Amino acid sequence: MSGAKRTNTKLYAMKEGATAEATFVKAEQKKLPYELDGLEPVLSKGLMELHYGKHHATYVANLNNLQEQAAKALAEGDHLKLTELTQGIKFNGGGHMNHEFFWESLAPVGKGGGELPKEGSALEKAISKSFGSMDDMITHFSANTGAVQGSGWGWLAYNKTTKEVEFRTTFNQDRLVDQGAYLVPILTIDIWEHAYYVDY
Ligand SMILES: [Fe+2]
Repeated sequence: MSGAKRTNTKLYAMKEGATAEATFVKAEQKKLPYELDGLEPVLSKGLMELHYGKHHATYVANLNNLQEQAAKALAEGDHLKLTELTQGIKFNGGGHMNHEFFWESLAPVGKGGGELPKEGSALEKAISKSFGSMDDMITHFSANTGAVQGSGWGWLAYNKTTKEVEFRTTFNQDRLVDQGAYLVPILTIDIWEHAYYVDY
């Protein structure tokens, strides 16, 4: 969100009668890198309208609402209120950022969608080293995202400590970085029911 131009600044009255200024940058959904029907026949336009247009948009609206409340609480020095807001900010902020990365992880058929990394490429070699082969990685990924009970995300991650790629899951709207800043996301799969139930 750095570099975002939309900044809301408001003056809030403090208990002592003075005013304090609080600023927050409004979150906003990036435009999809393809049309809403661009992922058909794998993901339908109807599903994308619901997923991008409703579910993702709701996380963004909730995040902005909570941010505004947090800015007010911060300006007023209301630490109790600020603490109460943090879980909602983490959940909705995670929901927004995970979806932003998810949309970038997908591509239309014929424009990279469904294509595997070229044999001998750095990514293919790293995946084969960690999982045995590309097919083994796909099998592992499918089995272990399918095994997640409830909602969450499946990730292919680069581990900066081991210098290898690995599979991870996060629950609800937790982000990969919550498990360590040494994990860099390569791709993610949304395993919330809203991501597929219209089509599958
Ligand atoms: Fe989703």
